[in-house]
Amino acid sequence: MKKTLWPKNFVRIPGEDWAQGEVELLALKYDTVENHGWYSNLARTVSQIGDSMQDGHILLDYSGGTGILAGRLLEAFPEKRFGVLIVDSSPKFLRLALEKFRDEERVALRLIRYRKEQKRLDLVDEVLDPDFLAHGADGLACTNAIHLYYELPETLAAWHRVLKRGARVFIQSGNIRNPDAGENEWIIDETVEKIHLAAMEIVGEEERFSRYRSCLEDPAYMRRHDALRQKYFLPVKPLSYYVSALREARMPVVDISRETIEANVGEWFDFLAVYHEGIVGWLGGARKITGREPAHDVVRDRFSLMRLAMERVFAGKPTFKTCWTYLVCERSA
Ligand SMILES: C[S@@+](CC[C@H](N)C(=O)[O-])C[C@H]1O[C@@H](n2cnc3c(N)ncnc32)[C@H](O)[C@@H]1O
Repeated sequence: MKKTLWPKNFVRIPGEDWAQGEVELLALKYDTVENHGWYSNLARTVSQIGDSMQDGHILLDYSGGTGILAGRLLEAFPEKRFGVLIVDSSPKFLRLALEKFRDEERVALRLIRYRKEQKRLDLVDEVLDPDFLAHGADGLACTNAIHLYYELPETLAAWHRVLKRGARVFIQSGNIRNPDAGENEWIIDETVEKIHLAAMEIVGEEERFSRYRSCLEDPAYMRRHDALRQKYFLPVKPLSYYVSALREARMPVVDISRETIEANVGEWFDFLAVYHEGIVGWLGGARKITGREPAHDVVRDRFSLMRLAMERVFAGKPTFKTCWTYLVCERSA
């Protein structure tokens, strides 16, 4: 009989509410990035993890979302028997991951929930049972997500608590200001501010958008939408900020590398279109601000405007270059 990968009493898929419903469109839409060229950003991480994980190990895939990294790991290393525990704050993304891995003995899932009264998310050690904590994780991956955390020191301290001594932490993101980035390389989310600025110009110039012009002259309205945009796409922090935070959390960085990742403008549009409210929500008014759902024709206009703005920002070119940063850390005593 095969030895189980998981600590005793560990439930791979908890019988919680998020696991019961239907798979939702939002998650399916997000998951299409799996087929985008710029998702080659995962390749280096997959190879780093493959070099480190051994049979019987457990990798915590923190912010593992819909399970794209987990899928790539299982595909790349079919012969290795290490477990991947996907932890994420989105019940919709986890539900889709469940659809993919329900029968995959090497994958387990946990939701971290928002605690309203404390205005914070669960920490990872708050959603794992004592047997798991006593066992510990042998590695942790965090891909395309660290730039999203509001409470980085607390999040890292919790990672430290669930990792075994000497465990490796694999972090990567295209939203870290890296002093070694090439001159023509974008921080991927910084394209959003430029798209917004170009969109305002286009609304001022093109007759087809004239009905929306008045909002541009309302500074208070525009400021509220600026604040919303910065909630969707957080201000970018420098590499040194993450290196210090990891050192303070006793997971010092042992290797830093970077890679130029080419993104296709059309694919980047497909990704950003899901977040139209956070980018050009001022066109017709964002629901989160007005409390009203925008009409279909408004959403259509947002898409057309975003396409035009992206053509302008990328000077009509089909692709643009971005800089991805990769950190490997080691959990110290
Ligand atoms: C861009 S997705 C990346 C998903 C996956 N790691 C990948 O590379 O495809 C960001 C993920 O971070 C999760 N997330 C956002 N804010 C978070 C937070 N504060 N703590 C933990 N996860 C968070 C989201 O639910 C989402 O699954």
